Amino acid sequence: MFQAAVKTFSASSGGGLTCIRHYCKKTARKLRVSEAVSGAGLGANVKVQGWVRSVRPQKANLFLHVNDGSSLQSLQIVASSELNNPSLTFGSAVEVTGTLKKSPHHKQPVELEAEQIRVVGECNPVDFPFKIKERHSLEYLRQFPHLRCRTNAFSSLLRIRSEATTAIHSYFKDNGFLQIHTPIITSNDCEGAGELFQVEPSGPDHDEDENFFSVPAFLTVSGQLHLEVMSGAFSKVYTFGPTFRAENSQSRRHLAEFYMVEAEVSFTQSLEDLTKVMEDMFRSATEHVLAHCVEDVDLFHKHVTPGHREIVDAMLKRKFPVITYSEAIDILKRSSEKFSFPTDWGCDLQTEHEKYLVKHCGNIPVFVTDYPFNLKPFYARDNQDHPEHTAAAVDLLVPGVGELCGGSLREERLDLLRVRLEEAGLEETYSWYLDLRRFGSVPHGGFGLGFERYLQCVLGVDNIKDVIPFPRSSHSCLL
Ligand code: 4AD
Ligand code: MG
Repeated sequence: MFQAAVKTFSASSGGGLTCIRHYCKKTARKLRVSEAVSGAGLGANVKVQGWVRSVRPQKANLFLHVNDGSSLQSLQIVASSELNNPSLTFGSAVEVTGTLKKSPHHKQPVELEAEQIRVVGECNPVDFPFKIKERHSLEYLRQFPHLRCRTNAFSSLLRIRSEATTAIHSYFKDNGFLQIHTPIITSNDCEGAGELFQVEPSGPDHDEDENFFSVPAFLTVSGQLHLEVMSGAFSKVYTFGPTFRAENSQSRRHLAEFYMVEAEVSFTQSLEDLTKVMEDMFRSATEHVLAHCVEDVDLFHKHVTPGHREIVDAMLKRKFPVITYSEAIDILKRSSEKFSFPTDWGCDLQTEHEKYLVKHCGNIPVFVTDYPFNLKPFYARDNQDHPEHTAAAVDLLVPGVGELCGGSLREERLDLLRVRLEEAGLEETYSWYLDLRRFGSVPHGGFGLGFERYLQCVLGVDNIKDVIPFPRSSHSCLL
């Protein structure tokens, strides 16, 4: 393509080829800051675009740091002070052209000797909510969801989030799972907890007495039931997408919109088939993030949540223990801790209980299995045990967070499932779900992992609102 253009140009004008060569030599190569700081273009004439993170005017020289989000490190720019101008301030957007050189002054090995600095977008430092050289708390940053991605901490978080997403997709791909895009709008309440957001049009032409979909429709609380459909054809499937719950909770681990990773596996023999996937995925994603986001993770483990790295390393060292719900209740009852919620058999485990159990097991992730049958939704497989009637369900509890994953074997036996649905008055609504048990039903099961809680667990971040770009919770939907 380029060759052809050169030929045409030189044929029509005598000195054209020389002209193009000269132009190519003079045109600065556009580099990302991450490439520049790694020494990729040493000696080359390059152009870097980004936002100013520091300005240090000196007598003869001007020093800047420019960051474009490609890495935690910013690129040091050295320029003659003649290139300084009043709109070169902290936060302004710039385009710098110059030569990449080995740096004599700085711990960074590379700096850009600027020939030209163009301010693309000005930034008034007085109004800008972040101040140069100040370390702002995550809580402070939360007030500025439109600007916090320009800070070191939040940009590190978002790079880690992106890499963790890649790692999770890779895990499933490498292990033979098919990705399914389960719907966001659905007519079922998978968890039966009634925490649904209803979906209806809001325009002026909409007749309020008529359902747009002819049936009540909601934002999904889980893609599980759709995954169960697909596991009946593909054996191993997963989905990773937004999930919605109208939970009126201001807790540090609940959002109204969060991302859930869900997997469904056919031909299971026991809960172990699920705990293995949960544990392998956790390890594989975490090891990937630690290996690929070294600087970003370090920023958290050194400056935001000091001491957390040791906890993460300990999590990865040992196999995750498995205890039953009944054993968990025994542990809680024997403890001298004063819990706010009851610890009787049959009561749901609360965050305080989950955190205690994790500590009790050595502050590493722990699986709790076989919950009381009555605590679990209609789909959970009946263990048919006595006198303590349980379902084949499993939660993974992790340090600092409590419940990270929830899953179960599904009731694949038509007669048992039908009775359960009849009791709940749901037989008609879920006739298609019963069909799955009529036509080639197999033992199967799956789980869901809260992606934000996963990030909280790996980074030690206390508040779930600090690990998602735009948090939504009751009474808060900024932007
Ligand atoms: O335990 P849950 O409710 O399980 C299900 O929805 C199953 N249907 C999943 C499945 O088997 N396919 O939710 C799974 C996980 C929880 O363990 C928690 O980590 C996360 O989703 N989660 C939330 N995360 C943030 N905010 C909320 N409001 C959450 N609710 C659940
Ligand atoms: Mg749960």
